[in-house]
Amino acid sequence: MSRTLLRGRVLSFHAAPQGADDSAFTYLEDGALLIEDGRIVKRGSHTELKGLAELEIDHRPHLLMAGFIDAHVHFPQVQVIASWGEQLLDWLENYTFPAEMGFADPVHAAEMARIYYDLLCAHGTTTAASYCSVHAASAEAYFAEAARRNMCMIGGKVMMDRGAPEGLRDTPQSGYDDSRALIENWHGKGRAHYAITPRFAITSTPEQLEAAGALAAEYPDCYVQTHVDENLNEIALAAELYPGAHDYMGIYEKFGLLGPRSLMGHCIHMTAREIRVLAETGAKPVFCPTSNLFLGSGLYDDAGLRRQGVHGAIATDVGGGTSYSMLQTMNEGYKVLQLQRQQRHPFEMFHWITRGNAVALGLEDRIGTLEPDTDADVVVLDARATLEMRLRAETVETLAEELFLLMILGDDRAVVQTYVAGEAMK
Ligand code: GUN
Ligand code: ZN
Repeated sequence: MSRTLLRGRVLSFHAAPQGADDSAFTYLEDGALLIEDGRIVKRGSHTELKGLAELEIDHRPHLLMAGFIDAHVHFPQVQVIASWGEQLLDWLENYTFPAEMGFADPVHAAEMARIYYDLLCAHGTTTAASYCSVHAASAEAYFAEAARRNMCMIGGKVMMDRGAPEGLRDTPQSGYDDSRALIENWHGKGRAHYAITPRFAITSTPEQLEAAGALAAEYPDCYVQTHVDENLNEIALAAELYPGAHDYMGIYEKFGLLGPRSLMGHCIHMTAREIRVLAETGAKPVFCPTSNLFLGSGLYDDAGLRRQGVHGAIATDVGGGTSYSMLQTMNEGYKVLQLQRQQRHPFEMFHWITRGNAVALGLEDRIGTLEPDTDADVVVLDARATLEMRLRAETVETLAEELFLLMILGDDRAVVQTYVAGEAMK
């Protein structure tokens, strides 16, 4: 069995840091990761591990961190990103739905899947929870390409039986049948995880949400992903369509769609009851800063949720989001929190996009850290990748300052290499 040694400045979180607290991570100035069969088998100083592998790759002076995790992103929106001017509902109708139509074609879906994974890897993202289109073919292409690259990916075909044009709608029965077949085909195969994916209450009838709830009950180890409380017009429309519900979250609650494996996109305009429901069910809000700013949706109240014991994930939400980069997502996230005087330390932010998201997904024993006996998904980062970064780096004295520089100025140019299960992807 061939072994690889990656040498560099190793940084890995084993707990959630509080501010500048440096007890939550391991940092090795001249460290190394010994990789065998897609796993990290040892982590230590280079002196300790040198000579143990057939191949050694020296990434000094760059940082080795766990690959980034994007907890909410739309695979069929690769050609929607950067579409001008609208808020959520018009943006969906004018840009998103027409683009998603193309994913009925398996050839187009397969081609876009290749590009999508190239983009994720170029940006240092090694795991993502993605929405596919309504077409089973899009999810097939999504999982087939992930399997080809041995990537740990979560995803599902969107369930959507109203409020969308002909060609983009399923029915409660076909949405259930197609999702079930995809689960049987892909969930747990290799590194794949299925997410039951009713797009949101507005594009699903009560019958369809009931079918989604039935699937969630049948397959409790699948994820559920959907959108909630993103935009004020969306919330008003959801209330009209579900007049009996307590509130927007109450719609999903009623159909059994809330649990620890539920990923609730956005969660911006929440009532106290909705936050309580998140806390009680363990469902995870997902903060999508570049999207929330781009679509003018609002400001995610991270501190408010944390006060109630609710710890969210963080994500790009491309194509409402404007960058595939989790570094840029932290940049914009920092500013959203700054506007509310909730800014978070770079240790907390880098924990969030790695182990924090892994914890939200219940996958921290496999991804999100560089602990021995986890999967070897690794990103190599260069804080001097551009002229402006190099200039600022000249005055940087601490690891925290270096990380902050990376998250404010960094993007795919700062990603030197991405390893998926020990294999170089760039
Ligand atoms: N709500 C329902 N669908 C979508 C989507 O594709 N993007 C965003 N940002 N919100 C949604
Ligand atoms: Zn979304």
